[in-house]
Amino acid sequence: MMGKNIAFVLTAVPELKVTLYDLAYQDIAAALRSGCAALVGHGVISEGELETRIKRIGFTTDMDSEPVRAADMVVEAVFEDMETKRSLFGRLEELCAPDAIFCTNTSAMSPTEISARLKRRERFVGTHFWNPAHLIPLVEVVKADATSDETCLAVMELLRAAGKRPILCRKDVPGFIANRMQHALWREAISIVENGIADAETVDEAVKYSFGLRLGQLGPLENADMVGLDLTLSIHEYLLPRLESSGKPSPLLKRLHERGSLGFKTGEGFRSWTPESMEAVRDGLNDYLIKMIYKK
Ligand SMILES: NC(=O)c1ccc[n+]([C@@H]2O[C@H](COP(=O)([O-])OP(=O)(O)OC[C@H]3O[C@@H](n4cnc5c(N)ncnc54)[C@H](O)[C@@H]3O)[C@@H](O)[C@H]2O)c1
Repeated sequence: MMGKNIAFVLTAVPELKVTLYDLAYQDIAAALRSGCAALVGHGVISEGELETRIKRIGFTTDMDSEPVRAADMVVEAVFEDMETKRSLFGRLEELCAPDAIFCTNTSAMSPTEISARLKRRERFVGTHFWNPAHLIPLVEVVKADATSDETCLAVMELLRAAGKRPILCRKDVPGFIANRMQHALWREAISIVENGIADAETVDEAVKYSFGLRLGQLGPLENADMVGLDLTLSIHEYLLPRLESSGKPSPLLKRLHERGSLGFKTGEGFRSWTPESMEAVRDGLNDYLIKMIYKK
C-alpha cells in the first residue's frame, strides 16, 4: 500500500534514483497505473509522464544488492510490527553507508523504540506519510530521542523537493501531531452516536457541511484567534467538562468489532455499505483531493 506510493512520490525529484525492496516480486507498475489513474484523468500528469516515472522505480528482492548498499536514504514501509522493523534496520545498518539516513513510515509505533538497537541513531527519523501517499501532501517528520537536527533538515528538504508538505514533530509522542487531533475528533463522533444524540450519517453530515469545509483553509488555532481567545476560553470552560474524555476505545466500537462489523471490509460498520456505495466514496475522495490539492 504505502511503499509503492512513497517510491512514486520520490520520482518527482528528477535526480533521484529510486528502488523498492520487498520480500517477493510485486507488480508495482500495474498498481501505480491504476492508483494514479485519477491524476492522469484530471490532467495533473500526462500518461507519458506517469510511465516515465514508473519506469524510474527499480525493484529488488535482494537486500544485499547495489541499490541498497548505495542508498543515501531508506524509507521503511514494512508491516507494522516492532521486531520486523527493528531487524530490518539492523540489517540495513550492516549494509548501507554510515551516513545513510533511515526513515520509518510507522503510523503508530515509536521511532525511538524502533531505532533503539541501532548504532547511528542520530541519522534515524520518522517520516509519516498519509494514505494515499501520492496525493496527501503532509509528511510528519518525527524526531526520535537521538535524531539530529541535520537529519530532520535534510529529510524535510528532500520531501519539499518531491512536492510534499513536511512538518516537524519535535517529540516522539503516540499519534505524532495529526493523528492525535484526528482521533480526538473520532472519539467524540463515536460518543455522539453511542449516546443517541445523532446517528452516524448525521454526525458525518455535521462535519462535512460545517467546520469540515473550513478546515482545509483555516486551522483550529487560526480559527480560535479569529473568533477570539476570550470566546474560546469561555466555551472551553463550559464545554470541555461535558465532552467525551474516556481513555479507552468506546464500548460501541468494541461491540461492532466483536460482532464482525468492520466497515468496508464486511459491508457493515457504523453505517451499511454496498460495493457501489464504497466505490462512490473512494472515487469521490480521490476526485475531491485532486481538486483541492491541484485545483484540477
Ligand atoms: N496503510 C495506511 O493507511 C498507512 C498510512 C500511514 C502509514 N502506514 C504504515 O506504513 C507501513 C506499511 O503499511 P502498508 O499499509 O503499506 O502495509 P502493506 O501490508 O500494504 O505492505 C507491507 C509490505 O512490507 C513487506 N514486508 C514485510 N516484511 C518485510 C521485510 N522484512 N522486508 C521487506 N519487506 C517486507 C510486505 O511484503 C508488504 O509488501 C506500516 O508501518 C503502516 O503502519 C500505513
